[in-house]
Amino acid sequence: MYVQDNYREAADYIKSLLNITPEALIILGSGLGQVANELENSTLIPYSEIPHFKSSTAPSHMGRLVAGRLAGRDVLCMQGRLHIYEGYSPADVSFPVRVASMLGATRLVLTCACGGINTAYNVGDLVMLTDYINLTHTSPLVGMDITGFDARFVDMCHAFDREYIALAKVEAHKLDTSLADGVYFYMPGPQFETPAEIKAARILGGDLVGMSVVHEVAMARRLDMRVAGFGLVTNMAAGILDAPLTEDEIFTEGEKARIRFGGLLKQFVARM
Ligand code: HPA
Repeated sequence: MYVQDNYREAADYIKSLLNITPEALIILGSGLGQVANELENSTLIPYSEIPHFKSSTAPSHMGRLVAGRLAGRDVLCMQGRLHIYEGYSPADVSFPVRVASMLGATRLVLTCACGGINTAYNVGDLVMLTDYINLTHTSPLVGMDITGFDARFVDMCHAFDREYIALAKVEAHKLDTSLADGVYFYMPGPQFETPAEIKAARILGGDLVGMSVVHEVAMARRLDMRVAGFGLVTNMAAGILDAPLTEDEIFTEGEKARIRFGGLLKQFVARM
């Protein structure tokens, strides 16, 4: 569990290296970290140098903050996110979100690789997250020091900002890119799901499955940040196709979607 001073020390360290006030934190998911290389006037800060930050151990997650300008906005990118399956707690995973908020960020833009549960999807589809299901009942807000907050309970009716969902649709249309809607079903991993779990998730209303997102969103909503979530269907979820799931396909699809995904993200960031 962290105390206010821990967040403050991390924020002060980052601030001492930056000459911008970030408007948004952008968290880049598996295979989607390349966008951070497009930032102008960028400053790179390895997580290992930031007080209290955990390191990224997941494959292809570089483990550094990249601060700079993207599509005319000052942003902070996490090139590599933190996951529960790395042995981290929900508080660890969402620590950077609270630090970004202290640095001035009022928006959180998430990207994630997902398995497609909804059989209307195809591998390679981009999906705007409209809601999530977290049946693990874990939360970064459990035990959080709420001094300075007016309430303990956080409304999650619009966890993903409705205006941002509409904006992303408009920008996707302009780019002639299709952008579906979907409910994100959280599974902590690191094993992929069983076909029976995916069947259950579908019955419960999940369209996409993944091993991240929910703790970052809960923290952001606690801090009143507006949230947008972009998913990429890197594979059909377990049991839908008669083929085993592999890490490789996730990275291959991420790489294939790089230009399309990056293009949409930049248009969105320009107008968010
Ligand atoms: N399951 C969980 N997480 C994922 C998947 C999946 O099928 N694909 C990409 N991330």
